[in-house]
Parts: sequence; structure tokens; C-alpha cells
Amino acid sequence: MSTLPTLSAPSLGESVASDLGESLGAHRAAFEQHFGVTEGVRTFFSPGRVNLFGGHLDYNGGPVLPTAIDRGTFVAIRPRGDGEIRMASRFAEVQGSFKAAALPVSPRGEWFDYPLGVLLALVRLEDSMAAKLAGGFDVLFGGNLPVGAGLSSSASICVGTTFALNALLGLGLDPVQRVEAALDAERGFVGVKCGIMDPYAVGFARPKHVLWLDCKDETFEHLPMDFERLSIGVVDTGIQRLLARGEFNRRVTECAAAFEALRIHAPDARVLRDISRTVLTENGHELDADLLRRATHVVEEVERTFVAREALLSGDLETLGRCMTETHASLRDRYDCSCEELDALVEAATKGGALGARLTGAGFGGCAVMLIAAGDEQRVSEAVVGDFERRYGRRPPIAFFQGDEGPREIH
Ligand code: GLA
Repeated sequence: MSTLPTLSAPSLGESVASDLGESLGAHRAAFEQHFGVTEGVRTFFSPGRVNLFGGHLDYNGGPVLPTAIDRGTFVAIRPRGDGEIRMASRFAEVQGSFKAAALPVSPRGEWFDYPLGVLLALVRLEDSMAAKLAGGFDVLFGGNLPVGAGLSSSASICVGTTFALNALLGLGLDPVQRVEAALDAERGFVGVKCGIMDPYAVGFARPKHVLWLDCKDETFEHLPMDFERLSIGVVDTGIQRLLARGEFNRRVTECAAAFEALRIHAPDARVLRDISRTVLTENGHELDADLLRRATHVVEEVERTFVAREALLSGDLETLGRCMTETHASLRDRYDCSCEELDALVEAATKGGALGARLTGAGFGGCAVMLIAAGDEQRVSEAVVGDFERRYGRRPPIAFFQGDEGPREIH
């Protein structure tokens, strides 16, 4: 085994090889150099995602409207046969080395907790999995998706791992099981109380479409997005989301507490999404001020997401954009998950001619997403980058996306 030079984390602004096959070819070569084998290696791609509507609704049972992006995780993998599992990354020196028969049961605080969590989730899923994983494997991760920027690098690596293992070892998982195992890895092992949106957005991606996912009953449909008239731009503040996991988990707990208090007044409600505006208005005074602000965001955001859905289907771009910017204001003022740089980007985007803009993902830093009328991309990008540079002395990276095909093998 030879040690590869560690690469710096991918940036949104990097020029990306237009041919994914070329990138995966280089990734395969890195695998061969690192592990010193060429036989039986297979390569896979798994996208990231950007969320357009339904901010912080998934764990409240609400509807969300994300779309995958064609930046993601590269996976090169080969089966072993001797029960050893070795996990390496292009972006980290530290590697994971385990025995398939004795997987660690608690997280190590390392990047490989995500794929390790997937293995444990698979074993929990079905008794037969342990035997299928028993031979072990070598895997090298890499990719072109910024990590920790609100573009779901974690769901990308988890879904990518289940997808690759399923193909490599013939696990017989259907797409929902692959997504559920990825979710279980993050929730059950890594310890983030995330909702279902991210692995679904990655696992059920379709180019030029957004995913309408109802997180209460876990049903979804693909809605077409008219990229003749519309562009999705993503811009990165470069602000690391250091507090994000703790704060995110706190929002989940706060929403659960708000629901516990309000459900007494709505006996049929199963999740916070079911609480009507009337119930909230009449009984909100029973909540403390922070819980009331969180619940108000959720109740209004549910309504807004349905309005956005209609606007998308009817091609009403102005309403669509307005919903997006209103979501940002609500996440900023009621959910306290924005930051100064995100607010500055959203303001510059809307003043610079975007139809709408908001933080994406959990917030607390990372990326903002913008809806821009086709033809206005250059003008808006210049306004946003210029304003950010004047304020913070650096140029934020921007990229444009039109969905993605989802996890796949690349030959
Ligand atoms: C993170 C979580 C998702 C979702 C978003 C907020 O990305 O992983 O489940 O809650 O935040 O919409």
C-alpha cells in the first residue's frame, strides 16, 4: 500500500472535468496506486443535493423540494475475501481498518464514521447481511462536492456506500432500503437527528427535475423544472458550520417540544406539520418565545411550500422566487439558523436581480441557493460576487446546476 498525497477539500468554484468518466478514471488510478491492486476494481458516483423549498420541514413531517446536483462522491471499491475492510479518502490522512466480523460499535469521530455507520445499518437491516459483507473490501472515497457546505456531502457518501456495496457484493437491496440504510447510518451511528430529505434527494434524483417529498408518509414524485426559463445557482459563503450539528439537533428537540405542547389542541395531529395556523394562533401563548418562533416558522413554511409547488407547476416564476426569499427571512428571524454572510448573499442576489434566494441545507454557514431567470445568470453572479468581495475581501465561488441522474456505476 502506498500513501497518496492528501488533496485539499473540493471547492464549488473549481472547474470540474465535464466528463465524469475521466474523473472516475483518475480516481480508479489513485485507488490502484494506494491499494496496489488493479483487479476487480469498480467505480461509482453519488451526487450531492440542494434544497429549494421546505426549510427544516423534513423532521417535522412536512413537504420538501430538493434537487440533486452533479457534484458528488467518487467511490472506488473492490472485494477482498479475507474479512478485512480498509477505508481511505483522498481528503484525509487517517484511514479506517476493520475486521468485518468485529465492526466497532461506537463512532470514532472520523470521516469514516459515515461508511462504517452504513455497514452497521446494513447488518441491522437483515440477518443475511453480515454473511454477505464477511469477505471484506477496500474502498477509496473522493469527489468534487464541497464538504460541510450544506450540499449534503454526508448523504452523498452514505448513499454512495450503500449503492456501491449493493452492486459489488450483490446485497439485493431495493432503492428505498439503500436510502434507509444511509439514513440509519447518520441518525443511528453518527448521531445527527436529520430528517429523510437528504438521502431521498440523492437516492431518487432525476435530471432536470426536483423531488417533491412528503416526509410524513415518505411518498414522492418528480416535478419537472423548466431550465429554459430558470437557473439554479449555488454560492458558497466559505463559512464552516462549526456549531451546526449541536444547533441542528437542538432545533429538532425544540420542534418536538413545541409539538408535544400543541398536540393537546389537535388530537389528530401526528407531527408538527399537522398543526394548523388557527391552532397555533389560539394556543401559541402556551409556548416559550423560542419554541413559538420555531413552530411559527414550521406552520408557515408548510403553507409556503405548497404555494411554491403550485407556482412551479404553473410556471409562475415570480411567486416561486418570492417564496424562496420569504423562506430565508423566516429561517433567519424565526429559526436562527442563518449567519451574516448568508444574509448578505441573499440580499445581494435579490437586489442584483435573482427571482429569489435562501440559505440551503441546515444553514449556520455554508451555501445559499438562488433562482435566476434564464439569461440573467451573469448579471446576478457579478452583483453577488462584487458585493461579497466589497464586504469580506474575497470572491465567493458560484456554480449552476440542473439536477442529476443519481447514484450510478461509471465505467
Ligand atoms: C440538514 C438535514 C436535513 C434537513 C435540512 C434542513 O440538511 O440533514 O434532514 O433537516 O438540514 O432543511
